[in-house]
This record gives sequence, structure tokens and C-alpha cells, in this order.
Amino acid sequence: MTTETSGRSISHFALHYPEPSDGPLAARLFELLGVHVDEPLPLPDGTNFYRFWVDKRPGVNDGIFYMSRLPEPLRNLQKVIRERLDVGGPNEDPTVAAYRTAEDYDPELCFHVGVLFASLDDLEERVAAVRADPELSKRVSLTVNRATKGKDPAIDARMEASPLFSAAERFPYGNYGIQIFLVTDLLAGGPLGERMTVELDYVFPGYPENVFTTVVWQ
Ligand SMILES: [Fe+2]
Repeated sequence: MTTETSGRSISHFALHYPEPSDGPLAARLFELLGVHVDEPLPLPDGTNFYRFWVDKRPGVNDGIFYMSRLPEPLRNLQKVIRERLDVGGPNEDPTVAAYRTAEDYDPELCFHVGVLFASLDDLEERVAAVRADPELSKRVSLTVNRATKGKDPAIDARMEASPLFSAAERFPYGNYGIQIFLVTDLLAGGPLGERMTVELDYVFPGYPENVFTTVVWQ
């Protein structure tokens, strides 16, 4: 077997937005994060099918993902699940609150998507743009994990100088990197289809043995 035929990479993943009006907003969220958005494909039901590229520079072209409206069978199933559990009601099943508490503490609890940035400045600017967007800021909440303290004085100084990270009190599992979790109800995820996490990662240069850094930047 040759190297050429034995290689593989992730082909794509597929996301869903809950309501038709959420599609353009979710696409804008990804666009503000620097993702390339192809011209949406209009579908017969009036909604749009989107294709995104995490990095569309010539010679890279990697990280395709798709986004469409949550299909009707899934909408119906999740509606029944929410009704049977009385989500938000007086007889809400206690497993719902327990699940929410766990996900609030750990936004990585359910299936989610992580994007590794090559530049921390770029990442900070894009998060600021999302926060400044009047519509998106109402639909996206942030959880910030600053780099673990005491590992590198230069990294500590960079964190302290950052309005985004200086006030953060959470830390990633690994060292020399940061995580930002954007939790949004513009994407249907989790067992109740209510929200999904988009994770933004950065690892400081000089630490190739890191759980996030499998990419060689070109
Ligand atoms: Fe993650």
C-alpha cells in the first residue's frame, strides 16, 4: 500500500441551524470568525444550504463543513423529547437541569467543532467582532480558558495584556494554549437540539507537542 492511497483527512462535517432565519446569522458568525462562505445554495423549501472552508488559501483548501436547516424528522423528534421531559416547564425532568449544569461548566460536553488559529491577534479581533455585532452578541455566549499560569513568563504577560484573557479564571487541560468556547443557539446541537459549541483554539509557538497542534501552518 502506498502512502498516497493510505492517507486520509476529515472530509467534512455537517451542522444544522434550527429556524430558517437562523441560517444567515449562523453564516455571519462563521464569516466573522474568518471562515470562507461559498455562495449559499437555495433549496426548494426556501432555506439555504451552506458550504464553508475553514481555510481557503491556495494550496491549503482544507476544513470543509456544511450547514443546512435541521431536517423535519429531527425537529419533530426533538420537539417530542422536550415535551416528554417538560423542558422549561413545572415538571421538568431533573436530568435536564443536570445536563445543562454540566454543559455550562464544560462547553466541550457534547459534539462540538474546534478551529485552530494561527494568530492569537487574529483570534482576538474576530471574537471582538462577534461581540460587537448587535444580533450575534445576543445569540452567542463566551467561555474563556486562558493559558495555564506559570509555564512561560512571556505567555503570562500576553494573557495579562489581553482584555479577553486577563479576567479569565479557567484554564485548558493542556499547557501553552488557550480555548474560547462560543456557545450559540444558532446551531442545533446536543440531545435537545438547543445549542452548540464552536471552540476556538490557539497554541503559542515553540510547543509542537500539543493536543491541538497537528497542523503545520503554511
Ligand atoms: Fe474541544
